[in-house]
Amino acid sequence: MSVLAELDVVGKRVFLRCDLNVPLKDGVIKDDGRIKASLPTIQLLLSKGASLVIAAHLGRPKGEAKPELSLLPVAQRLSELLGQEVTFNGQVVGDLTSTAASSLKPGEVLLLENIRFNAAETSKDEAERLVLARELATLADVYVGDGFGAVHRKHASVYDLPKLLPHAPGLLVSAEVEVLTKLTQNPARPYGVVLGGAKVSDKLGVIENLLTKVDVLAIGGGMVFTFLAAQGKEIGTSLVETEMIDVVKAIIASAHEKGVKLVLPTDIVVAPAFAADAIPTLVAVDSIPVDQMGLDIGPESAATFAREIEKCATVFWNGPMGVFEFPNFAAGTKTVAAALTKVSGISVVGGGDSAAAVRALGFADNEFGYISTGGGASLEYLEGKELPGLQALGI
Ligand code: 3PG
Repeated sequence: MSVLAELDVVGKRVFLRCDLNVPLKDGVIKDDGRIKASLPTIQLLLSKGASLVIAAHLGRPKGEAKPELSLLPVAQRLSELLGQEVTFNGQVVGDLTSTAASSLKPGEVLLLENIRFNAAETSKDEAERLVLARELATLADVYVGDGFGAVHRKHASVYDLPKLLPHAPGLLVSAEVEVLTKLTQNPARPYGVVLGGAKVSDKLGVIENLLTKVDVLAIGGGMVFTFLAAQGKEIGTSLVETEMIDVVKAIIASAHEKGVKLVLPTDIVVAPAFAADAIPTLVAVDSIPVDQMGLDIGPESAATFAREIEKCATVFWNGPMGVFEFPNFAAGTKTVAAALTKVSGISVVGGGDSAAAVRALGFADNEFGYISTGGGASLEYLEGKELPGLQALGI
């Protein structure tokens, strides 16, 4: 596996791909975890006298310059965290960027505008992506890939560009891969995975793959209602993917056949509407009223999940257990997070959303074994898929 230490960066202009896709509300960064996670590589490169052209994406602008998805607030936060100026000219590629890149002095940083404002970045047409990649390659001497959260994307700055320049993974990508390898190769047992979030369809691949690997699989969050519907239970107005019910029935049967302990909630916090001030009621899983929706797992379920988690030597968690953004429906996520902090073996919180959730609920990063910056990327890694951005870096 290639490593950053083997790449000659001294005095070089380095193109650094980061994942700076942070949650923003009205232009204000709600969680700067991904910016902070990018600092070690940035600081190491700067300390070696490199100058940096940093590229990153924010949201999914689909090739259009959307002002609300500008990286300007990220440039400002990065500048504060680094304690030095970060040049930001609001352009991805073009004359301004070429001039700014070529006039960078050792130790200076240029952050490009949201790379996804350029439609070629995410194009499915390889030739189109290559045009952008070639233009980006003119901005630097070497490439460092440190945007772990985007390595599952076959995008120009992630997949095509590293092939055009001497390259290496950054410290974050190497650290993420090292941790996730521990989950995929011979994990210490019992191995438990807790999955939440809205949709079964997003997690189907990982669930099917994990059924051959884990001892315990606990499911919460919005996607649990598709499981409950598959068991023939009344789920009221809760979120459901009806087209996934048969698939979920097969998952339940497969878990049983493989001896995987599938842990589902026994009680649910319901409310008449999806709103912060909706009145919460606790009901048994068999008694969800037809006119109410489930917005969190109940305390009995959370305690069961916590007990199962604490028994495990390896735990991976992705996806909140309920609508943690609303205090009335955050308890399930909080209890699961607290249980992860007590795991004596390896505990990994995967995903930008889950990482933001634990921080928003008042936990510190160092209370967990590892907080992965990758959402889809870490799930696809666990699924055993080949990730384009890692492949391009020789990992
Ligand atoms: C993420 O938020 O998981 C990464 O930044 C990747 O974003 P994407 O799912 O829009 O490609």
